[in-house]
Amino acid sequence: MTFDRNIKIAPSILSADFANFGAECQAIESQGCDWVHVDVMDGHFVPNLTFGPAMCKAIRPHVRTVMDVHLMIAPVDPYIEAFAEAGADIITAHAEAGPHIHRTLQAIRTSGAKAGLALNPGTPAEAIDYLLDMIDLVCVMTVNPGFGGQKFIHSQVEKVRTLRARIGDRPIHIEIDGGVDPTTAPLVVEAGADVLVAGSAVFKGGSVGKPEVYGENIRAIREAAAKALRAAA
Ligand code: DX5
Ligand code: ZN
Repeated sequence: MTFDRNIKIAPSILSADFANFGAECQAIESQGCDWVHVDVMDGHFVPNLTFGPAMCKAIRPHVRTVMDVHLMIAPVDPYIEAFAEAGADIITAHAEAGPHIHRTLQAIRTSGAKAGLALNPGTPAEAIDYLLDMIDLVCVMTVNPGFGGQKFIHSQVEKVRTLRARIGDRPIHIEIDGGVDPTTAPLVVEAGADVLVAGSAVFKGGSVGKPEVYGENIRAIREAAAKALRAAA
């Protein structure tokens, strides 16, 4: 994975057909997504339960871009190896998942994956201050984690701006996760975000049988983001 800050669209398979993950990954990649966002939930850190390392391993052969694994689990450390083994390119842990986030990020890097730090809406940007040399990505939650299709929390746009200033020219992605669509994407891109996770906004109206709808939805988000960047230039 080489680093660049070009806008990337990372559909979240939480909104995909749970009976058809392999084909869904192939469909969104054939329709132009940049990464595949995999929402792992344990029913403890968040009030929902999705899938684990075995499912990530199963979809790995169908993901030719980047498998961006978002761990909404606590504790994190016992599972890092398993997700790295499953083929995760990026493993993102929540700052709120336990008392030793510095050690968790070290363990993710040691596993060979890129390390992401996710911040819930109530967690300030300052949480990254002593972790800047430990991370490859900051994931700003713009919804409370656990479900797709929720409303974007606008107060987080300022946090993106603060993070952008704190990160400077370090090779660290700012990823936005939750409620991203062609209306909210411009707000966060203008504030400095470069990776846009979108579940419902990508999968709505499409299917493995109608993948072109995924392509239209991805393009709509990408074009809205690009327009905002041009206007801000
Ligand atoms: C929420 C997940 C998000 C979610 C995004 O806990 O982390 O990735 O799937 O879904 P939308 O884009 O529908 O808000
Ligand atoms: Zn996510």
